[in-house]
Amino acid sequence: MAGAETVPVARPVIGEAEIAAAVRVLRSGSVVQGPEVAAFEREFSELVDGRACVAVNSGTSALYLSLLALGIGPGDEVVVPSFSFAATANAVRLVGAEPVFADIEADSFCLDPEAAAAAVGPRTAALLPVHLYGHPAAMDRLLPLAARHGLAVVEDACQAHAATLHGRPVGSFGAAGCFSFYPTKNMHALEGGMVVVQDARLAAKLRMLRNQGMAERYRHELVGANLRMTDVSAAVGRVQLAALAGWTERRRQHAKALDARLRGVPTPPVAVGAGHVYHQYTVRVAEQRARFQGELAQRGIGSAVHYAVPIHRQPAYAGGGEELPQTDRAAAEVLSLPVHPGLTEGELDRVATAVDAVAALLGSEL
Ligand SMILES: Cc1ncc(COP(=O)(O)O)c(C=O)c1O
Repeated sequence: MAGAETVPVARPVIGEAEIAAAVRVLRSGSVVQGPEVAAFEREFSELVDGRACVAVNSGTSALYLSLLALGIGPGDEVVVPSFSFAATANAVRLVGAEPVFADIEADSFCLDPEAAAAAVGPRTAALLPVHLYGHPAAMDRLLPLAARHGLAVVEDACQAHAATLHGRPVGSFGAAGCFSFYPTKNMHALEGGMVVVQDARLAAKLRMLRNQGMAERYRHELVGANLRMTDVSAAVGRVQLAALAGWTERRRQHAKALDARLRGVPTPPVAVGAGHVYHQYTVRVAEQRARFQGELAQRGIGSAVHYAVPIHRQPAYAGGGEELPQTDRAAAEVLSLPVHPGLTEGELDRVATAVDAVAALLGSEL
């Protein structure tokens, strides 16, 4: 379609309301972990069944701090999916523990409870499921597994703001739930993260750890770091949080429209009871994915591969020799299409038309 602009796979929003909020904070002079952060924590709590929220400077920091606060460290193993962003496993390594990679379910792309059970050993301290692409992991089967073995559960909900399983919000299942506010996420705060916990003592420990181990100024009760959120980020996050419900609804409508339209590729299945928030709308392209992507690009359609190389095959982690067939298959086949709330009806139509045209073109060549 000559002349038409490319439909981007993500379109982060930094609108007038976000800019006004940031300027308001800058003019106030109170820019680090002040009233905006406190308000953001209170408001985000409504999204996670009223659990305590502790804001930090990234999703990675949220994961790292959760593991640290739960006392997970050297000698411990944490069961994680390999089919995720590397931050999931990096957080485990950063506290000195060892990630043990388990396979995913083919349909949801999330940690397979049976594979997780097989990965549990005498040194396992925690399970770290990821609600990948905005689809909830099978918490109803992972929580009993954790309970049987006395394991902590830390949820990586970095891609899944407002996703639910049987009506319960992700982030509210485990000892800690971790969110990211990176610009391409379903809501952002420029950069930022949130840890969500039920236990008030754990919340207090997290608050200390994010701020050099202090509860009182210059009294360091723990060894902490500086992982604080700025008030500029929190103010932007509050604007985005207010818009999240509407954006989630639009993502779902777009996914529904694509589900109904697409003929040439299998559409993403949704598990029973899952409230998918479509951070990504991910299809499988079994053959010639690079060409598929190139043909889409020629038709002005952006797409992305999350993740072509699973974590256990990354240089920093390679060598374990794990057999993760569903992970390898997903890494070879997945392709994410535009589903973000900023899509117009015309753009959505162009996405569907292009995907089916490319599928037909490549299918006829096979
Ligand atoms: C699954 C997952 N875990 C962790 C992270 C880390 O979040 P951040 O980039 O905010 O550190 C991200 C996002 O980037 C993610 O997608």
